Formats: sequence, structure tokens, C-alpha cells
Amino acid sequence: MSDSYLISGGRPLKGEVVLSGAKNVALKTIIAALMFKGDVILKNIPRINDVIDLIELIKSLGAKAEFREKNTLIVNADGLKNNKVDLVNGSKIRVSFMLFAPLLYRFGECFVPNPGGCRIGARPIDRIVAGLVALGIVVTYDEGTGYFHAKINKKPKGKYRFEKPSHTGTELLMLIGLMTDHTVEIENVANEPEIDDLILYLNSSGANIVEDNNKLIINKISELKQKEAFTIMSDRNELVTYATLAIASHGDITVGPINENLIASFLDIMKNAGAGVEAISNYKYRFFYQGEIKPVDIETSPHPGFMTDWQPSWAIMMLKATGKSIIHERVFENRFSYVDELKKLGANIEFIESRVENPEFFYHFNHDKNKSYQQVIKIVGPSELHNAILNIADLRAGAALACGALLATGESVVNGASILERGYEDFVEKVKKLGGEIKKV
Ligand code: EPU
Repeated sequence: MSDSYLISGGRPLKGEVVLSGAKNVALKTIIAALMFKGDVILKNIPRINDVIDLIELIKSLGAKAEFREKNTLIVNADGLKNNKVDLVNGSKIRVSFMLFAPLLYRFGECFVPNPGGCRIGARPIDRIVAGLVALGIVVTYDEGTGYFHAKINKKPKGKYRFEKPSHTGTELLMLIGLMTDHTVEIENVANEPEIDDLILYLNSSGANIVEDNNKLIINKISELKQKEAFTIMSDRNELVTYATLAIASHGDITVGPINENLIASFLDIMKNAGAGVEAISNYKYRFFYQGEIKPVDIETSPHPGFMTDWQPSWAIMMLKATGKSIIHERVFENRFSYVDELKKLGANIEFIESRVENPEFFYHFNHDKNKSYQQVIKIVGPSELHNAILNIADLRAGAALACGALLATGESVVNGASILERGYEDFVEKVKKLGGEIKKV
């Protein structure tokens, strides 16, 4: 199977990109659909590898799931018959651990393998398991098999406070809370707009989830049943990938549809970097090169900060900025797998030491003071990039490498296309429409 891109770069990319649905909403709405009665119709679901893998996984549990049109998915879990997540299918995507919720709902007991997914750090789920336990779920882990066993002896109730917010942790505990006979409260939750979209979907189908500052209150309900099809939000990460590519390639790309409040912090920072940004009707934004790109330092953080998923794309734009810029990754460890690869293109990019007063508090992963981390990079631009052979190690790094190759003169090979395509729908087609020379080989 062809799993590489052959890219001839070095020209400005121009045109329009229609955004696909958000990966990180699609996956959760599909998992939550397993708790619904009857058919669930989900629109704007991207046909990306993560979604395809998840569909295979839920089918192996006995659910029905099929695309009716290109992006309309119908899920029906009334026939769910298996409470053990298959190790091979489950290890393909980290989000498979969210299946705790529907399996506990349907069977009162389940077996879920330790999550796989992107190799961007250790990514343990200790806080999430602690949350399950706090709500009354009995969870044990078998190191021999790598499986968690979870059991509900009595309906979940009570409170859990995340020591540090977790995006999918918030979502999983919210789904667990739907099973309560009382009320469940989750404090210090993550606030990503993708979580709001999941709440909108659940509340429109009978859930009673109230957002109160950094707290979620989940009230007792009778059942989840869809009244009408739900259309998921557009992918903000995809927008950032194409917007930064527009500026870095000295091009002009219009992207949409997207609601401005979902990308407000990103638009501000683009303007600070001297990018041309123009709001067009119908939730479209035009990103165009209008002269020298200024270096802007960023530090990633949970919403409403600069998202960790955006920093590899930011690095690509900073390669073309005049001067020095710094990227400090606070959310995940090892999110810089693209650094050594970009050097092959001739990028002036290197790790620098991070001096932080309270790393245990500052970083969102579990910081170990005996371990050494590489959380900060320095980029000096503008770099003239040349062709190279690049290898993708994780999804967002993959987008950065493909974009790097699109900026470089000559013919580059980017290996690991299927990793990029875990999260980007029709990447080759969309880039070609912008005038990029790319083909799958
Ligand atoms: N963490 C722990 N213990 C836990 C939970 C989290 O140590 O129990 C750590 C993680 O290892 C990480 C940090 O806390 O270092 C934050 O993790 P969080 O749980 O918030 O992230 P996530 O839910 O695993 C989701 C998205 C990511 C996105 C982040 C931040 C999905 C499937 N994944 O990850 O998306 O970067 O939230 O918004 O929704 C991507 O799409 O490429 C991607 C990685």
C-alpha cells in the first residue's frame, strides 16, 4: 500500500479549502452514540483513518455503523454484544479508552486495553482512572494482559476534581455521569470548544449537562435518544494547518466554514506575525501573505490558550519569519518529533533548555524531576528550504512535515502518509486544489 507523499514544493499556495469535521468531536460523538437508543445520525464526520479504525472497533463490539453519504454516519448500538475491546483494534487509537462509558452503561462491566494512539509522550490516564474510581466505578489493571477491568456496583455519583484538566478525561467522566441516579460534578474541567460540541449533541438528545465556569454538573436522565441529526463542528486544527501554510508559502488561502470565536486567539497571533487575515462572509477567513513575517514566540496551553495541536504548524510559519522565535510546549511531552526532520530540509531549528520555576505545576503532563525533557525549540528564519526524505512519527508533526516539503524547492518524499491521514481528510486533493504538487506513492 502506498504510504508516502511525493511533493514538489516551493510555490505559493492559493485557493480555497473547505474544512472537514473536527476529528476530536467525530470520535467522541461516535463513542457516545453507543449509549443512545435507536439510530444516531451524525453529519460532517470526516473519513479519516482514526474514524475508520473506530468504526471497525465498534463493529467488533456488535454495533452497526455505516456511511450513508460521504460524511453522514449512521450508528446503532442496540445490538451491542461484546464488553471486551479487542487489543489490536483498541491499541490503534488512544481514544478507545473512552469506550469505558458505553460498555459500562450497556453491560455494567467491561475490559478495555491500555490506550495506544499518537506517540507524543507517555500519555498516561492516571487522572482519568482516579476520576472513574471517585465516581464509584471499580477499576483494576492487569499488567500481564495490559487490560483495565471496570465494574459498576452502584450508579455513579459524587464529585471529582481534576488536578490538571484533561480533555478526553473530562469527556469520559461526563459520559459516565450520564448513568447517575443522582448528580455528578466534575471540577477543573478542560474547556476546549470540541467538548462544548459534545455537550450540545448530548443535551439535544436528552442529557442534562450544565456548564458552570470550570465545573460540569451532570444530572439524572431517563435515556439518550436522538431527535434530529447532529452536525459536528469544523476542524480548527485543519484550519490552522492551511492558514499557516498560506502565509509561509507567500500564498493566499480562504478557509471555512468556522465560527470566529473558535479561532479568535489564533487570529490575533496571526495578525501579530504580520499575516494578512480577513473575515469573509459565511464564516470564511482569508489568510494572505502581505510582506515580511514577524517572529512570534508561543507557549502552548489548554483552551483558550494557543493549542498544542497548532504548534507544529506554527513552527512551519516561523521558518519563514525574519528573526528568532521560541516555541514552548507545556501540554504534552515529546511533541517535537518534527524537529530533526525539518533540519533535513535545511531549517535552522534546535532544542534549547527550558528554565521553569515550578515544572510540576507549569507542565500539564506528570513532570518527573529526575527525567530530562525537551520542551522548548528555537527557530531562526527565514530559512531557504531544500528537498529531503522525511519520516512522520505523529499526526500533527506529519502535517508540519508535509507542509515543510511544500515550502522546499525540489522533490521531497514524506513517509508515513497514513499517520497524517489519521486526522486530515482529502489532504492530497485539498493541497492539489491550492496548486501544490503532491501525489501518494
Ligand atoms: N495526562 C495525564 N494523565 C491523565 C490525563 C492526561 O498525565 O490522566 C496528561 C497527558 O499525557 C497530556 C496532558 O495531561 O500531557 C493533557 O492531556 P489531555 O488528556 O488533555 O489530552 P488528550 O485528551 O489526550 C486531546 C486531544 C489532543 C489534543 C489535547 C489537547 C483527542 C482524541 N485528543 O488529547 O489531540 O492535543 O486533547 O486539547 O481529543 C490530536 O488531535 O492530534 C491530538 C493529540
